[in-house]
Amino acid sequence: MVAVRAKALVKTYGSTRALDGVDLEIPSGKVLGLLGPNGAGKTTTVRILTTLLRPDSGEAEVAGHDVLADPDSVRRAIGLSGQYAAVDENLTGFENLYMVGRLYGSKKPAAKARARELLARFRLEDAADRPAKTYSGGMRRRLDLAGALVAEPTVVVLDEPTTGLDPRGRIDTWEVIKELVADGTTVLLTTQYLEEADQLCDSIIVIDKGKVIARGTADELKNQIGGERLELVVASPDDIPATVQVLTEVGSGTPSADSHTRKVDVLVEGGPKALIEALRRLDGQGITVQDVALHRPTLDDVFLSLTGHATDEGDAR
Ligand SMILES: Nc1ncnc2c1ncn2[C@@H]1O[C@H](COP(=O)(O)OP(=O)(O)OP(=O)(O)O)[C@@H](O)[C@H]1O
Ligand SMILES: [Mg+2]
Repeated sequence: MVAVRAKALVKTYGSTRALDGVDLEIPSGKVLGLLGPNGAGKTTTVRILTTLLRPDSGEAEVAGHDVLADPDSVRRAIGLSGQYAAVDENLTGFENLYMVGRLYGSKKPAAKARARELLARFRLEDAADRPAKTYSGGMRRRLDLAGALVAEPTVVVLDEPTTGLDPRGRIDTWEVIKELVADGTTVLLTTQYLEEADQLCDSIIVIDKGKVIARGTADELKNQIGGERLELVVASPDDIPATVQVLTEVGSGTPSADSHTRKVDVLVEGGPKALIEALRRLDGQGITVQDVALHRPTLDDVFLSLTGHATDEGDAR
């Protein structure tokens, strides 16, 4: 059973091709991660799948309903938490969730019970009766996420669900997503945090400039890069330029260096051999190495090698 299917989605804004033929499929009960740098087309994809935006061409089906022909049915089946929290500032946390429940047709007692349950699940009980405008950014984000779950949707779409959350809020959100999946919910999430995709997603799609540039499980993507990451810490910051030079020769990519931690790293093929070669050359130049390690590539490495730049985690919204 496929819960979400999109074929050849195209969306242009003037001369910008926000989406340039995106295909995706999510089997029922699975989590798909949509990764990509700023402006890649993640939110555009989310908006089309949640009926908020019409594509120029292409087709999509969510929970068995066509997003263009039958948007009402799609809306009834899904929960959406957008990139920017959509909560009513003047209502309390409780009222926000209660109202969503009533809008979905729940009776008053059921809507109240569901609101209380979700407030507890997102650690908002103490703030339940305060207007949302007094909430911190992270609390608002959690309230918005709770709002997406009120009607117990079979498909949940989350656009950067943990951006702006502190580590505790992020871990709580991951737990909620894992519980949803355990209950059989299908999840599409976009994220800038590759560790999040690694932890939660059954499969991952990387998009850039509106095109899918890679897809697979986290492991498949890591294996696609091949090799390992060689990391060295040199004793003196003065030795960093020479170390970068050695790793450029030994490695299979461009080394990165941090003068503060004195760490220099690079992707290498044939790990241990490259490590020994690097140490031999550094020793030959009288450079003292304090620490050395070989790691499997991370999703960050995958992302960097695919898009040529890292995700921008510092981007505050
Ligand atoms: N309403 C709009 N009008 C004009 N251009 C738009 C509009 N919405 C999106 N775009 C453009 O479409 C492209 C894709 O935008 P989109 O919001 O889907 O990216 P994103 O992957 O969600 O980025 P981010 O990580 O910053 O949220 C960008 O070039 C963006 O500037
Ligand atoms: Mg976005």
